[in-house]
Amino acid sequence: MCGIVGYIGDKQAAPILIDGLEKLKYRGYDSAGVCTNDGEKFIVEKEKGKIEVLQQMTGKGKKIAGTVGIGHTRWATHGKPSKENAHPHISQSESFAVVHNGIIENYMELKSELIRKGVKFVSATDTEVVAQLLEYHYNGDVLDTITKVMPMLKGSYALGIMYREMPDEIIAVRKGSPLIIGIGEDENYLASDVPAILDKTKNIYRLDNGEIAVIKRDGIVVYDLSGNVVEKTVETITWSVDAAKKDGYEHFMLKEIMEQPKAVHDTIIERIKDGRVVLDEIRLTPEQIRNFDKINIVACGSAYHVGVVAKYIFEKILRKPVEVDVASEFKYRDPIVDEKTLTIVISQSGETADTKEAMKEAQRKGSYAIAIVNVVGSAIAVEADDVIYTLAGPEIAVATTKAYSAQLAVIYLMAIYFGDILGKICKEDYKNYVSELLALPEKITDILDRIEDIKNTASKLFARKDVFFIGRNIDHALSLEGSLKLKEISYIHSEAYAAGELKHGTISLIEKGTLVIALATYEDLHEKICSNIEEVQSRGAYVLGIGCENRQHLSHSADSTIFIPKTCDMMLPSLAVVPMQILAYYIARFKGCEIDTPRNLAKSVTVE
Ligand code: BG6
Repeated sequence: MCGIVGYIGDKQAAPILIDGLEKLKYRGYDSAGVCTNDGEKFIVEKEKGKIEVLQQMTGKGKKIAGTVGIGHTRWATHGKPSKENAHPHISQSESFAVVHNGIIENYMELKSELIRKGVKFVSATDTEVVAQLLEYHYNGDVLDTITKVMPMLKGSYALGIMYREMPDEIIAVRKGSPLIIGIGEDENYLASDVPAILDKTKNIYRLDNGEIAVIKRDGIVVYDLSGNVVEKTVETITWSVDAAKKDGYEHFMLKEIMEQPKAVHDTIIERIKDGRVVLDEIRLTPEQIRNFDKINIVACGSAYHVGVVAKYIFEKILRKPVEVDVASEFKYRDPIVDEKTLTIVISQSGETADTKEAMKEAQRKGSYAIAIVNVVGSAIAVEADDVIYTLAGPEIAVATTKAYSAQLAVIYLMAIYFGDILGKICKEDYKNYVSELLALPEKITDILDRIEDIKNTASKLFARKDVFFIGRNIDHALSLEGSLKLKEISYIHSEAYAAGELKHGTISLIEKGTLVIALATYEDLHEKICSNIEEVQSRGAYVLGIGCENRQHLSHSADSTIFIPKTCDMMLPSLAVVPMQILAYYIARFKGCEIDTPRNLAKSVTVE
């Protein structure tokens, strides 16, 4: 997500820090900052915006004294992009400076406790809580204080810490988010990612979860949380810088496919407390929610496909009519929208002009707009009436994967939350939905563990010229995304079609060898989709079925199958989309396509 850099040695630290942050900018960020210790005090320079802003402010770091320091590029998750929310964060008496990657899930409880004890906060971030906690609990021994404070933090974190009175060390802590130490000659480095320091040293230690490193100019000592010294093995990096940016994956898209369990986990985990869905971001009262007589969903591309899935879910659970529009159509059809319409706007970037304009049209007509966005402080997030952030982290590949999955997770949270308020979900179902939602990351991992099998299937399919994705009900909604994924990155013509509709015309295109990918996860219509499979097979199609484990009927009908774990109906798309993403990725790879930046496409289209 964000980027961390640290330096301790005899050279001026700030230029090295800023240079390292510059090498991490591909990770996506919205602000940057550095903090050095000149032997007496912390010197902090940080600002919203690109690295260039920081470079101008500090003369590329030359204006900042000190030979020890930490730096950070921030991808906002808690608190909008701003100078105050940028890292490094300093404790109120300026004794501790902290940079952080990851999410402190219980930061609000910790922050309230500290405020009650008189601590003054200046930012809206979870990271500042760590700096204040360290100062508040400081007992004269920095290392001991850290080992006592770390267990208070729930969530994932990689931390770079400096204590003002000890300018001869940087302390690094890892739990969940990656952190490496660069080993130099009488100087050492800290980084969240290899590219930041690869031009300085190829020898590193990788910190493991629960490890604390004390980094000095002339040596590094690593401890576990019980204070025992841990022997680390030096790793010599042989990767190219480009490969290192993708954590060794060949493409960002594959890295982001693999990050989906974490993206879903991070998006839901803070919004489920004691078995209840908590959506504090929605400021509507239960009365206002009950007063809506319909829901409109507007979005583009894959985000629109999330909206189509959401229609099936909301109508089934909330029993409210739901309309879904591609944003570019919605705005210009003089939509029937008023204050009794709830508009849900979905956008990874939060900058898609079509989506932004559609939201404004709905708001002009009196509708209340809730946005589901992945970029904190983006235009749509700012102009919506409420915003629910997906916490998927920066998504670099143009073809979205982890943001799509995180958006689906927010839809499930909203369905449970609204369904409960509307009295449409019994206790038993509520409990089951929450438990299935919490189990999703692990079930996605189960599928990712079989990536080689799916790659093997792709190796037999990549030469096809036309591909159909068919499904019924929620499987049809999902087939739209499978088809788009394939088209976007492999340039193979593909079409998603309601399986029951195929026979009314388009089936004329099916001929010997046509590849049909049949989504057959929705139990209630299983027999029907299987008869649709036979319909196309009788005209020569080769059918790859995607269904729930042990659905023997499907394996008898389809020519080959990919099975996914079972889950509740509304969450099936989160599992069935994964094999389709992997298929699209490897088919494109076998075809030798570009993948991360496909021709003609942009990650976000900010013009109408
Ligand atoms: C397209 C992207 O330009 O915009 C798609 O190529 C994306 O991947 C669509 O789904 C919508 O973008 P956003 O940022 O509004 O979700």
